[in-house]
Amino acid sequence: MRTVRSVRSVRRAIPALLAATALLTVAVPGASAAPETAAAPGTVPASAPAALTGDALAASWTGPLSTRGRYIVDADGDRFKLKSGNWAGAQGTYVGSGDADDVANHQAHQKSNNIPLGLDRTPIGRIMADFHRLGINSIRLPFANALVHDKSVVPDSAVAANPQLKGKTPLEVFDAVIAALTTDGFAVILNNHTTSYRFCCGLDGNERWNSGQSTRQWIDDWVFMAKRYQGNKRVVGADLRNEVRRDTWNDANWGWGDEHDEYTAFEQAGNEILQADPDLLVIMEGINWQGIPAAPFPHQRPDLKPVRTLSHTLIDSNKLVYAVHFYGYTGPANTGAGSGPGATGDPRYEDFTPDQLAQVVNDEGLFVTEEGKHFTAPVWVSEFGAAGRGSTDAKEKSWFKNFTDILVKNDTDFAQWPLVGWSDEKGTPNDNWALLSYDASGKKLGVEDDGDWRATDWNKLVNAPAKTGRIAPANHWNIVDIDHGDWNLSRTMLAGADWSPGNSKGNCPDTERLIGLSRSHGRGLCTDVAEPPKAAGAWEAVDDERYVKQGDWANGYDKLQCPVNSFAVGYGMKGPAMASLLCAPSAAPLPTKGHSVWFDQGDNRPATGGAHGSDWAENDYKGQCADNEYVAGVAMTWKSLQLGRPDALLCRPLT
Ligand SMILES: *[C@@H]1O[C@H](CO)[C@@H](O)[C@H](O)[C@H]1NC(C)=O
Ligand SMILES: *[C@@H]1O[C@H](CO)[C@@H](O)[C@H](O)[C@H]1NC(C)=O
Ligand SMILES: *[C@@H]1O[C@H](CO)[C@@H](O)[C@H](O)[C@H]1NC(C)=O
Ligand SMILES: *[C@@H]1O[C@H](CO)[C@@H](O)[C@H](O)[C@H]1NC(C)=O
Repeated sequence: MRTVRSVRSVRRAIPALLAATALLTVAVPGASAAPETAAAPGTVPASAPAALTGDALAASWTGPLSTRGRYIVDADGDRFKLKSGNWAGAQGTYVGSGDADDVANHQAHQKSNNIPLGLDRTPIGRIMADFHRLGINSIRLPFANALVHDKSVVPDSAVAANPQLKGKTPLEVFDAVIAALTTDGFAVILNNHTTSYRFCCGLDGNERWNSGQSTRQWIDDWVFMAKRYQGNKRVVGADLRNEVRRDTWNDANWGWGDEHDEYTAFEQAGNEILQADPDLLVIMEGINWQGIPAAPFPHQRPDLKPVRTLSHTLIDSNKLVYAVHFYGYTGPANTGAGSGPGATGDPRYEDFTPDQLAQVVNDEGLFVTEEGKHFTAPVWVSEFGAAGRGSTDAKEKSWFKNFTDILVKNDTDFAQWPLVGWSDEKGTPNDNWALLSYDASGKKLGVEDDGDWRATDWNKLVNAPAKTGRIAPANHWNIVDIDHGDWNLSRTMLAGADWSPGNSKGNCPDTERLIGLSRSHGRGLCTDVAEPPKAAGAWEAVDDERYVKQGDWANGYDKLQCPVNSFAVGYGMKGPAMASLLCAPSAAPLPTKGHSVWFDQGDNRPATGGAHGSDWAENDYKGQCADNEYVAGVAMTWKSLQLGRPDALLCRPLT
């Protein structure tokens, strides 16, 4: 059991069924600093990263950011690898019991006053210069929802080293920190970490995006934040919610369409954020914990696994980034609790061999970066870290080396946890996970100063060879999921009236067209491969056979068909039945000779084509046109109890 007073450093991020305090492991005591561990043979020499000045960093990239395949790119299309750290504090440091004014009741005896840590003791300019020396280019900035609504002024003592911030509310301080960071060249990612000001992550009322409040409120607050920083192109991302996990009674799920459906809530939030500010990257973590962490019950850390069969499609195709967290003391089915409630015998990440670790990190996260799948997106490891100075945890040290080797090898975007902490009068860090610790007088002790074993691996990571320069635009194969309701992905159609009243409908982003349909679940697949430019005319929702004029391609079946020189971009369904086909006009004439692709008896996808090997409608029959084709029609029947389900596509070549 954790006793706050005796703890020098506190491990974080432990999702669980049971009370947070019971679950947080007793951290490694900050004994005398351990001697520097020698770099293992074959490791990259531990030369410190070359620090960029703010001006040089600012000149090196242009916002906003977007994605091309697995890479994040800047406004010029050049790779921008997120080499980030978490500057924590604005999410709150209170551990949830005892007097909130007493520093002893805050994580590692660090009271942030709900603003980024360190501003009480060090001028922000020096903190940022130290960030530059770490070799990072971007900051994940966690905040609590409470910050959005907090009208109180931060105590003068909380900003003693930054008098320009006196008299401001936490949100105004947050604004000033963002302005300073972005002026100094950093990219900033806003991270909705907690609801109330609380140190994350146990059973603390902050488990889900809608714990203690509605999904609507959560989205409204995001839209507020998106609009607030809309003018600043270096505020590059909205990281929707930290470590979604089980609360006492319920698991979050992926795609069930209920109140606990993270997949759908994130889809909706992402699309509303993009409508408020089309420049932001929308960053989504998977489910951090499901189930009851005790031997007889199923329990696991799904992370991004569900993305393999159900990925998101946003109204703008190049804005989605997935994220995942890894800590050595947790595991695929281990909460990270040391002993007592929440502790199970399941292996921790630090128990795996390097090969096993690479496999599990791949399965839970990095697989998403494979090219040419419906789920292909950049993956940002937005939290990972280890206890530094003074740690005697040999297993964690070895894990940190092996894990950062994987990040290096995979050229993975990352954000270390946490950047900034406090240190005491003797210079001992309160939280030895921090890369930079400042004492009350502002004196810094950093990972690059003598005696921190992490320097070798940190330097290896920030100096890692990485793909740079222009990245070629990538094709997309994106899911439309109307399992539980409309999936409105077209900005054009969103701006208009209901195009198929009474039916559930899905449509593709405006840059994509429909290319596949599934038989029983009404899933669709969109692509932009060789996308034909659209003509200016109105789009038409077709609900009868009036355009079936170039021959019968599905004898005895009912058909919906687009007018000539138009292609399908959406569909409406009434229950299981096809009800309408949404058709957009092509700027150039389209061939009218095509072929039928039947899928009433099985899965009928092309042998080639980007989506092959990434199932977009698992356990369902489905049909898909080839990448160089368009959907011109859909056939169905009500005979033999077929209920009007889609049976065949009319696929025609684009040229
Ligand atoms: C952050 O998430 C919390 C919990 O879901 C929610 O209450 C709040 O509205 C969110 N705030 C923002 C700015 O998104
Ligand atoms: C790394 O990235 C590639 C895609 O570029 C992916 O296929 C691979 O599985 C990833 N994982 C690991 C552990 O290297
Ligand atoms: C790290 O890798 C080394 C081999 O390079 C291996 O001996 C060790 O067990 C690994 N440790 C962990 C915690 O994965
Ligand atoms: C989807 O868009 C249509 C307009 O085309 C609108 O009537 C409908 O309410 C929207 N559905 C959702 C869930 O936003």
